[in-house]
Amino acid sequence: MSANKDEVLLKVNKIYNPPERVLEKVLITAEEFDRMYEESIKDPEGFWSRLAENELHWFKKWEKIREWEFPNYRWFIGGKLNITYNCLDRHVKNGKRNKVAYIYTNEDNEEIKITYGELLELVNKIANGLKSLGVEKGDRVVIYMPLVIEQLATMLACARIGAIHSVVYAGFSANALKMRIEDAKAKVVVTSTWTKRRGKKIDLKSVVDEAVDGVETVESIVVLQRDGDQFELVEREIDFYELIEKQSPECEPEVMDAEDPLFILYTSGSTGKPKGVLHTVAGYNLYTHLTTKYIFDIHEDDIYWCTADPGWITGHSYMVYGPLSVGATSVIAEGAPDYPDPGRWWSIVEKYRVNIFYTAPTAIRLFMKYGDEWPKKYDLSSLRILGSVGEPINPEAWLWYYEVIGNSRCSIVDTWWQTETGGHMITTVPAYPQKPGKAGKPFWGVEVDVVDREGYPEENNKVGYLVIKQPWPSALRACWGEPERFEKYWTEIDHYYFSGDLATKDEDGYIMILGRADDVINVSGHRIGTAEVESALVSHPAVAEAAVIGKPHDVKGESIKAFVILKEGHEPSETLIKDLKLHVRRELGSLAVPDEIEIMDKLPKTRSGKIMRRVLKARELGMPLGDISTLED
Ligand code: PRX
Repeated sequence: MSANKDEVLLKVNKIYNPPERVLEKVLITAEEFDRMYEESIKDPEGFWSRLAENELHWFKKWEKIREWEFPNYRWFIGGKLNITYNCLDRHVKNGKRNKVAYIYTNEDNEEIKITYGELLELVNKIANGLKSLGVEKGDRVVIYMPLVIEQLATMLACARIGAIHSVVYAGFSANALKMRIEDAKAKVVVTSTWTKRRGKKIDLKSVVDEAVDGVETVESIVVLQRDGDQFELVEREIDFYELIEKQSPECEPEVMDAEDPLFILYTSGSTGKPKGVLHTVAGYNLYTHLTTKYIFDIHEDDIYWCTADPGWITGHSYMVYGPLSVGATSVIAEGAPDYPDPGRWWSIVEKYRVNIFYTAPTAIRLFMKYGDEWPKKYDLSSLRILGSVGEPINPEAWLWYYEVIGNSRCSIVDTWWQTETGGHMITTVPAYPQKPGKAGKPFWGVEVDVVDREGYPEENNKVGYLVIKQPWPSALRACWGEPERFEKYWTEIDHYYFSGDLATKDEDGYIMILGRADDVINVSGHRIGTAEVESALVSHPAVAEAAVIGKPHDVKGESIKAFVILKEGHEPSETLIKDLKLHVRRELGSLAVPDEIEIMDKLPKTRSGKIMRRVLKARELGMPLGDISTLED
């Protein structure tokens, strides 16, 4: 047993050089990447000008690369473009009309392929359909749909006409959806009747019915009916295909200013309700284009598969905008990763000869548990680049991914980034040496450091706060309707972007991410604010107070544990615990349901009444309680 452990230790402390077969064809060598990094920091004007000119199509060239009036920044000032022109029209015009953009598959192994030419027409029809409903530039459209081609096309249709999309993951509850619809004052909601997971149909339409009830800003609800559904559509509702069928397949792309909003995506913070992170057109387009191209090393005939969902930022940047902008062919798969059996994902890799595969550590750990025999049943030799995202990848999982999935002949790119950063910030490009568990180095234009609370750099290998020293093109521009929350990113540690993550930097400049420094829990790569779960719990009639912590979990990364104090007259019972879990599911969705709920008589608090979650966590993990001098009692 211990020899085995030593062996693993030896392996995880090793540096993994990129395999020859990767190096033979990389779009960028390590030396060239480094040279360009230097240039991006020394001469940002020249650097970004050249790349923006070479990589994107502009209706009008920018006048200035960047303006930074603390805390606000703008990029490509005066430039005009449309991201869908870069994602679709230019490929269709350049001989790729018949290249497949997406291969859709699902748990029943159904397959739909759509080419760039067909996708452009579909997007235009939806865009015209939205216009016919009165949607104009700047209006908000909420998308609550399963992972189907129509979902991605609806996002693009919004971008085509300058409407701001806000995609809500179809696992969120009616209340969570309602909050997002109301906050954005959405004019239209686009949804579908159901999605299928583990062989079961999950009703989405009734969630929307509940969410839009009484919300007056919503003028229309567009419903994609699937497989012969015949819903009786009521007032405000219109059938998706009925809406678009009569529309023209041509729709001039709206001429967008570089800094016009592209989308809002809600994400959890350490306090209060989720914040609407806003991204704008040009910087986001260029940055996601470049990171997709060079970090995934996508070549013309590659098949690329990102297993995320467009409900999250990974889906926005690396299923929709990045891959389409570079003209890639992507696989998308609706449903669970391990249904009907744990071989499902590997069968998809084999069937479509996937070359580049991008997933989250939680999935890797799940498959590790199922055992090597599942991936070994399939031919995975087409794989060349393996990506990881969403949470720290523990070295053991890294190693399994490298050896069992990659057969020790792929490069791993462990990409650290956030909803707020829009695109990859820290990783290795495929030509770089890789270190298990360490994400790597910053991408072009990104200056990172690990600092203390005052912003002074920590020594090598010492834990500190991960910061970014100046704005990059795809940085968030605002928190929807909450300027003070936006400002906080740049004032928490003065003039640096505060990521909220803890990290270390080694002697080669490789960054290792250790997890969140704040009250955000990362469950299976999804961000959940402790404050959100606590407020959901206290909205239950039996709960007086609640405190929530994240606990290490061997598959999910972290799991949620809640401590609650009951109101007078309520007794602890199994039924009550079940009911509390159900209540959180109803309030927020299944992602946020605590694995454990413990009933307490008292919660540890400071004298000023703040709950000390740190003390609860230390107690839970059997660790020293740390400084408890402020503890009330
Ligand atoms: O804690 C970091 C973790 O996920 C957080 C961002 O979550 P979200 O905005 O939902 O975006 C997830 C997809 C980009 C970060 O603050 N995180 C993300 N990627 C990594 C990571 N932690 C370690 N390693 C990563 N590669």
